[in-house]
Amino acid sequence: MLVIRLVSGPAGSDALVLPVRPGKPDSADSSGSPAELVPTAVAPGDDVRAEAAALLPATRLTGAAGEVREHLRPGGAPARLWLLGVGSGDERDWRTAGAALARAAKDETQITIALPGEATEALRGLAEGLLLGSYRFRLTESGGRPALAEALVLVDDPKALAGTLDAARTTAEMTRLARDLTNTPSSTKNPEWFAKQVAGAASRTGLHLRVRGPQELAAEGFGGILAVGGGSASGPRLVELDWRPDGARTHVVLVGKGITFDTGGISIKPVPAMKLMRKDMAGAAAVIAATLGAAELGLPVRVTTLAPLAENMVSGSAFRPGDVIRHYGGLTSESTNSDAEGRLVLADAMAYAVRELKPDLLIDLATLTGANAVALGKRHAALYSENDALAGDLLDAITAAGERAWRMPLADDYVEHLASDVADLHSSPAQGAGSVVAALYLREFTGDLRDRWAHLDMSAPSWSDDTHGELVKGATGWGVRGLLRWLATLG
Ligand code: BES
Ligand code: MN
Ligand code: ZN
Repeated sequence: MLVIRLVSGPAGSDALVLPVRPGKPDSADSSGSPAELVPTAVAPGDDVRAEAAALLPATRLTGAAGEVREHLRPGGAPARLWLLGVGSGDERDWRTAGAALARAAKDETQITIALPGEATEALRGLAEGLLLGSYRFRLTESGGRPALAEALVLVDDPKALAGTLDAARTTAEMTRLARDLTNTPSSTKNPEWFAKQVAGAASRTGLHLRVRGPQELAAEGFGGILAVGGGSASGPRLVELDWRPDGARTHVVLVGKGITFDTGGISIKPVPAMKLMRKDMAGAAAVIAATLGAAELGLPVRVTTLAPLAENMVSGSAFRPGDVIRHYGGLTSESTNSDAEGRLVLADAMAYAVRELKPDLLIDLATLTGANAVALGKRHAALYSENDALAGDLLDAITAAGERAWRMPLADDYVEHLASDVADLHSSPAQGAGSVVAALYLREFTGDLRDRWAHLDMSAPSWSDDTHGELVKGATGWGVRGLLRWLATLG
């Protein structure tokens, strides 16, 4: 991973990056006004600055976030000047700029970037943008490695900004971990492998971990996880990861859907719908990475994370449409569609959290329905909660962190569809509001925590079809950034 360091004096990189922003709009026509240099805390040298300022009109840069232009200075030091559009100069625009820079300057080995005097937001955005925009997932070395190894960030007081850089680095590292897990092919990441990855990371960070295998799950009555995992040669697991700092006053339980591959089961998916189903554990990856991040940052909040891991396969031991499943705690579900498997494993984990862990707040993340994208498009998660304050706090944190979600209604109109002739609940009623009905089904397992629960259906934003800002094509690590921001607000 790219190394980022704070420095207060000129570092002598061959490549110097100067931020530019939209110029003062002309009274007559603002669209034609060229970008202007952003004043920086440490002057890069008067001659370089003057040269950059003189260049600007000819570059046709507007200063919009993410614009990048390279300028060669034969024989000069620095030898190359990069002009980087940072838009409004807020964190979000700096994040976009950082990502664009990481990609444009990938053949540099070291770059030096000069930041403005008020550097906190700029640094947070720049560092996350650089680290997330330069992310790539490859299983072979063919295709070459990016040369860019080091970014020096020029500020007036490196010590004062060390904490900001740490937060950005941890956030980006954990987002990259979630992306790695989600991008990994399902032939590798069966439930056992996934649990082992968590064990390795947990021992490095000093977190408590318990992993239940099929026998423990059976002994304790986790019928949903066992049913969904029953068709696979790789047995299911329930990961329970605990960050328990001294003096924590709030206890949060995070639950993440961890289907390591979703064929749909006996209700098998058609080819186009199945091809990306290795990503069906993106919720589990996000909550685990966020918990590791909370520990790494020493956040003073207790976080217990539950990741029910199972592979939804087609075989002689797979569960069948019409089966009735007995969840942890005793509620039963009639399942007429084995492709609605995520809610069955979440139901077990949520019931366990409510009955045994009794947290203050319960949040679940899941690639739960295709309907998420039908309702909200490809970049927004669907947020459900009965608690307006909790919903507002989560939306604020998610937005500030550069992710997106939109609140959706827990519309009681559809509750009647959850009725079953033979069981307590019907898990997969066939009617329209897919994401809403799935949320209403999960609500049945929240018990006393009904109004201290939030559900994020993040099927759509868990994956990006193209490279866009700090997202690169493939897994996005959606949720890690927002959860870490939100956890940091709890005490
Ligand atoms: N893993 C899928 C949801 C999904 C779809 C995630 C597309 C990402 C992209 C989930 O298990 C599923 O199959 N849901 C069904 C529910 C239906 C059977 C009630 C769906 O959305 O069609
Ligand atoms: Mn499914
Ligand atoms: Zn699924």
